[in-house]
Amino acid sequence: MGQKGLLQKINGFYGLIGPNIERKKTKSIYDLFMGNGIVQGVFIEDGSITYIKQEVETDKFKMEDHYLRKRKPILMLPIPNILGVANTAFFHFKNKTYALFERDLPYVIDIDFNQKKMNTLGKCEIEDIAHFSAHTKIRYSDDYSYIETIDYDLLQKKVKVYQLDPYFRILSTLKIPMKYAPMVHDFISTPNSIILLNSPFMADIHLLPHFSAKIKLDVTKSSIFYVVERENNRIERYYVDQGIYIFHYTDVYETEKEITIYAPVHPSLDFSKLEIKGKYRKLVLNKQTRTVQIEQNPELEKWNVEFPVPFYHENKKKIIMRYVDETNWLNTGFVICHKLEFEKHIRFQGRCICGEPSVLTIDLDTYALFFTIDKDDNGYFNVLNLMTEKNEEIPMNEKMKIGFHSLFLPNMNAI
Ligand SMILES: [Fe+2]
Repeated sequence: MGQKGLLQKINGFYGLIGPNIERKKTKSIYDLFMGNGIVQGVFIEDGSITYIKQEVETDKFKMEDHYLRKRKPILMLPIPNILGVANTAFFHFKNKTYALFERDLPYVIDIDFNQKKMNTLGKCEIEDIAHFSAHTKIRYSDDYSYIETIDYDLLQKKVKVYQLDPYFRILSTLKIPMKYAPMVHDFISTPNSIILLNSPFMADIHLLPHFSAKIKLDVTKSSIFYVVERENNRIERYYVDQGIYIFHYTDVYETEKEITIYAPVHPSLDFSKLEIKGKYRKLVLNKQTRTVQIEQNPELEKWNVEFPVPFYHENKKKIIMRYVDETNWLNTGFVICHKLEFEKHIRFQGRCICGEPSVLTIDLDTYALFFTIDKDDNGYFNVLNLMTEKNEEIPMNEKMKIGFHSLFLPNMNAI
């Protein structure tokens, strides 16, 4: 099927959210976290696409716009959350879309299919909550779906788990004291339990010759999984025999004896550097010994992966992840696996993948939608058949940025 024919079958919006910073000026993971959120996306309709890019108008963005970009006179503007950059992930629930960052509240954004635009509608104030996880979950049930999110307190060494109703009103709060100052990007939410990883970080602070603070994983200490049973709020700790960090989880299976988790695992991490190394591994939490066994497949160990996206093909749950070529530190292609079985890799010559793909099933075929850039940062929109590996690449005729997470929204007007 040609590009036009394939695009004819898609009616919706693919968006990628990330920091509005120059790729070549990015030196560390901090830089990525601190850039103002920008949404780059395409509206796909009647076989053609419309590209948009729009910054999320956070309180921080509006203040910078007022003083720095428009150089307007000083007003009594409220001091914004300087960490509030809304640059990490989307959240879509009850026909509303939000831009998230883990040290701020959500921003409501409007993906306008008629005007083919994105607008920021405003910050979503939530009573008694300061921060809303970028990996907030929806717990679906037949009669009542609710939101589950977390906030972490570095000084008090606590994670708070919140359940919220569809109007963002708190239904319940659970405080979990932790051993180390927690920095929790993602968590696991199952019908029976909530699982959080507490990783040991150390601060390397220098005052001279100039102030610098490096936060890195302390690999000499043990990371600890906290498993909270929903039924009675009992907390059990499971010890890993090394310091690891996990940004994203893909899979969890629970039996009477163990809990099995799959994820890209980071055995080292330094926020002052850009090079991160994720290895896709299986972690088995043993309910008798309260220890964690990490299993690996040598074929998968060759790949430095992150941003896992699950999809189903022929009744099998598979994971697609972008991989980094460590000779040039560019996101060169994708790895596909099923549990710890390596299936294949798909490489894009002369291209760097901008961020997380969205996976769609069209006429029983499975496609990944994503953006790439060339060496000069010129952007392309791609529709990749994950089985045949045939890739349709459409030039955007625009410079593009690297992003983090994505979403695909079907055009409900067309249904
Ligand atoms: Fe994330």
